[in-house]
Amino acid sequence: MKSVFFGAVSATALIASAVYAEPQAEVLHWWTSGGEAKSVAVLQEEFASKGGQWTDMPVAGGGGDAAMTALRARVLSGNAPTAVQLKGPAIQEWYEEGVLADISAVAEAQGWADVLPASIAGHMKCEGTWCAAPVNVHRVDWIWANADVLEANGIEMPTTWDEFNAAAEKLQAAGIIPLAHGGQAWQDATVFEAVALGVLGADGFRKAFVDLDMDTLKSDEMKAVFDQMRTMRGYVDDNFSGRDWNLATAMVMNGEAAFQIMGDWAKGEFMAAGKVPGEDFLCASVPGDGFLYNVDSFAMFDVDGDDKKAGQELLAELIVGQNFQKVFNLNKGSIPARVDVSLEEFDSCAHLSAKDMGESSDNGSLLPSYAHGMALRGAQSGAITDVVTAHFNSDMSSDEAVNMLADAVANSM
Ligand code: BGC
Repeated sequence: MKSVFFGAVSATALIASAVYAEPQAEVLHWWTSGGEAKSVAVLQEEFASKGGQWTDMPVAGGGGDAAMTALRARVLSGNAPTAVQLKGPAIQEWYEEGVLADISAVAEAQGWADVLPASIAGHMKCEGTWCAAPVNVHRVDWIWANADVLEANGIEMPTTWDEFNAAAEKLQAAGIIPLAHGGQAWQDATVFEAVALGVLGADGFRKAFVDLDMDTLKSDEMKAVFDQMRTMRGYVDDNFSGRDWNLATAMVMNGEAAFQIMGDWAKGEFMAAGKVPGEDFLCASVPGDGFLYNVDSFAMFDVDGDDKKAGQELLAELIVGQNFQKVFNLNKGSIPARVDVSLEEFDSCAHLSAKDMGESSDNGSLLPSYAHGMALRGAQSGAITDVVTAHFNSDMSSDEAVNMLADAVANSM
């Protein structure tokens, strides 16, 4: 009796698998902080609810450097993950290696071209085919602040770097750490590009970090960017080295520190901890005009097996789906990549982001983040970040820094 029963079950399963491959996906990502984990869980749940089997491959490390090292090792050993958190020019770099899957069938069936802004769609295409699916738009150039700490010290959100410095001096005198920062190269780069946008302006930023214009890289304005970085080095605490970005956010949450300059994944941390924007914490764009965007996306790698291919199709479909774009971004701190998702349930920081993004797009100051891999290929962005970190962690002068910057960029090309 028993063997007949099991025999019947396996026969049914065999028939089923012949006509329907159960979607499988091994997903490499670096979303491991509190807010990030809540966000990626939204995708895991949607995938499971459609019958998918998710194998998680999280590689901790903000900014994704460790995840990208893990990816390279997997691809080199001929065992690429099914789907990978990948963005900007790195998508094209992997495409050129001939290892990405074409997801155009899903993109066309879902009409991605009609619901994604051209600036975002451009990053998702490789020689005319769709090679990645966007989940969001993160803004990088934000200042976050503890509302009570500012109020208790009579400080408004700064609108110029001079105001920022004056506020920081006042806070420091009151025994509060002015700037919560984690001394990891990508965090130094994040602060640096936010300062650079403010000091150089949108055109200067584009010349420096998109066009790699040598005159701008060596300019007096770039020296002023390094001067401000030197000033800010004085506003971080002694234990900043190696600290993870979400621990720096926690310092702002608990009032140990006043400000953090970080992309709006930091808002995801505040929200995951139950903090309310405008009450517990404040958001403002950094002094200066413009908008530095950072679009998270997933690329599918060439893999064998109908179940994995079915997994890739399902993932691509869900990622650009309206519901996922809403729920994920409510958790993640970003705004949807799709233009037709209502922002009604989103908070004031998200509304500010959407408004500024629209205005920046109209006036030419919508710019790709260099620090988050949207503007440059790895060799060039890495060369810049090495100099930024070397300067921040030494007593290097701004003169030396700009010369080193120009040389490093020239040698990386
Ligand atoms: C990613 C975000 C992520 C952040 C910190 C950024 O590069 O785009 O999604 O939350 O790094 O890990």
